Amino acid sequence: MCNIGKTTLTKKVYDDYICSQFDKHAWVTIFEEYNERQMLLEIVSTITGSNQEMSDDQLMKIV
Ligand SMILES: Nc1ncnc2c1ncn2[C@@H]1O[C@H](COP(=O)(O)OP(=O)(O)OP(=O)(O)O)[C@@H](O)[C@H]1O
Ligand SMILES: [Mg+2]
Repeated sequence: MCNIGKTTLTKKVYDDYICSQFDKHAWVTIFEEYNERQMLLEIVSTITGSNQEMSDDQLMKIV
């Protein structure tokens, strides 16, 4: 169901629990049509601050 607060609730859980439970954490938005490499780049970029030169395999290993 659209617009019922899924993202708001998930972000609250992320901010209040996930961030304090895990050293490494990343918040990314995935759309119905998504690009796997772009998703991995966003996660690894958040975690390490760098990513562009890595292969998909390297990105997946980090994640
Ligand atoms: N508990 C709440 N009380 C009042 N307003 C809320 C509450 N939770 C979310 N909202 C508001 O409702 C709107 C939709 O919230 P949100 O974007 O989290 O929904 P969603 O289910 O993720 O939507 P979508 O299906 O489009 O991704 C936002 O304007 C948000 O601020
Ligand atoms: Mg949403």
